[in-house]
Parts: sequence; C-alpha cells; structure tokens
Amino acid sequence: MKNRIVRMLAVAGLGLGLLAAPAQAAGLQENAEEHAFSFEGPFGQFDRAQLQRGWEVFRQVCSSCHSLNYLRFRNLAEPGGPEFTVEQAKAFASQYDITDGPDENGEMFTRPGRLSDAFPAPYPNEQAAKAANNGAAPPDLSLIVKGREGWYYPWYISPVLKLFKGNGGPEYVRSLLSGYTDPPHGEEREGLNYNPYFPGHWIAMPPPLSDDAVEYKDGTPATVKQMATDVAAFLAWVAMPKMEERKRIGLMTMLYLGLFTLLMYLVKRAIWSRVEH
Ligand code: HEC
Repeated sequence: MKNRIVRMLAVAGLGLGLLAAPAQAAGLQENAEEHAFSFEGPFGQFDRAQLQRGWEVFRQVCSSCHSLNYLRFRNLAEPGGPEFTVEQAKAFASQYDITDGPDENGEMFTRPGRLSDAFPAPYPNEQAAKAANNGAAPPDLSLIVKGREGWYYPWYISPVLKLFKGNGGPEYVRSLLSGYTDPPHGEEREGLNYNPYFPGHWIAMPPPLSDDAVEYKDGTPATVKQMATDVAAFLAWVAMPKMEERKRIGLMTMLYLGLFTLLMYLVKRAIWSRVEH
C-alpha cells in the first residue's frame, strides 16, 4: 500500500516536471525576477496608489512610443482600477488632442479628449511607428502582460503553478524595464540594446527609464526599479480590468457550491434513511 502511494507520487512528480520543462526551455531569456505583486493569489487585489503611479509612468514615459488602444479615459475612474476621481480622469483626457470629425464641411478637426475617448496612439500607423524606431514597431501594451505570461494557466491565481512555470507577465515586464545591462564581450549591434530578459537578448527599445524620470505625487522615490514595478502593475490592470470582480464572483460561486453540496448531502441522507440497507 505504502509502495503504491510512493510510486503514484513519483509518477505525479515526473508528470509535473515534464509539463514544466518546455516552459523553462522555450525562451533563451533569463527567468524574470520574482516579485510579490499585491494582486497575486486568489484574494490578491490591485494596489490603488501603485496603479496611479504606474499610470504616471506610462503617460509620461512609455506613451511617447507605445499605444494603449484598449484603454479609455473613463476606465481610469472605474472601480477595480486606479480609481481616480471622475474629475481627475476628465482632466487627464482634456490634456490630449483627439482627432474627430468630419464636421459639416467634411473636415477632420481636433478637440480636447473626453472620458469616452481611447488613449491616443503616438503614431498614426505601424509604418510610421517602425520608421521612427529603427524598423521595430513598439507593440500596443494593452494586453502585453497577458501576452508574456508564458504559461497556459493563470499564474495570478495559483502560486503552485507559478513554482513550475517560472515568473512571467508583470514580472517579465518589470525585469525587462529594469534589467538592461552592458552586453557581454563588449559586443555591439546597430540600433539594438542588450537585455538579458528579452528573448534573443537584443531589443530595439532603448532603456526607457532612468532614476527620477517622473515625479511621484505621493512622494515615493522614483527609482528605476520602483517605476518598473509600478508600470508593470498598471499594465496588468489594463490587461485584466475585471480581475477583482472575477475573483469576487469566483469566491461567491465556490461558497455557494460548497453550501449546496452540504445541503444535497443532508437531503440524500434524509431520503435514504427510510430505506433498509
Ligand atoms: C523610444 C521609444 C520607446 C519607449 C519610450 C518605450 N518603448 Fe517599449 N518598446 C519600444 C520598441 C521599439 C519595442 C520593440 C522592441 C523589439 O521588438 O525589439 C518595445 C517593446 C516593448 C515591450 C515588449 C517586449 C517584448 O517582450 O516583446 C514592452 C513590454 C515594452 N516595450 C514596455 C515599455 C514600457 C512599460 C515603457 C515605459 C516605461 C516603454 N516600453 C517605453 C520602444 C519604446
């Protein structure tokens, strides 16, 4: 009996190992640095102040090259996100010129942004984006955190799966932004920068962050690590705007199903108590 259990455990371990191996082998890049984000785990929630700081970093630094097509200004004031006040979100929107129209003469015109507008892209099209960045267009960052998860299962739910798949998603973004180093052997490549976390190591994005690139209103010192962490958390929210709600509903559902199971068990006992067995 004991032997059988040991054998079963061994097989299970081997299975998990085999599952994890391709994830480790798939990329050349270094495994992203571990960081305990507040929104990890089944109960994790976003840290509002962190999302607000991350928005500042995105707005002031990243948005000069990257678009965020799926973010609307009104989202900034919705529950489950940075939760700016509606007035603050309106003020952010009004700082951007949005192309609208055509008007009654058939002309396009610009006007200040409104809550319903999407965050404006820095380049009019992909060709322009490429031309301005040495031939590599900066990707839209709306879903980048999900796109770089590197694992099929939601890491943000299960710490156990995270053990096997390594760090990804926001941890990858954080490591990438704060992990630029000098290339080994003094090698250089035209228009490319060395980053051990990027698959293939040579990335067209120049190091976007330097200490005090933004000034945080809450007085948090704006180190490269801090800004990288905050903007990674912000991009995680942009990719999963309903995460908090999903977790809440999931929890209620489990609770409901648990109570229902108990109830059904009692019903079953009550019914079968009258039958001889
Ligand atoms: C000067 C322009 C520029 C700025 C500023 C910039 N990026 Fe980039 N970024 C790029 C380019 C170009 C690429 C494409 C790199 C490549 O494919 O080699 C890129 C790629 C990326 C990627 C994708 C990496 C991957 O795995 O494919 C992420 C994530 C990213 N940037 C995040 C950011 C964040 C966050 C900021 C702000 C802190 C930022 N970038 C600021 C130009 C920029």
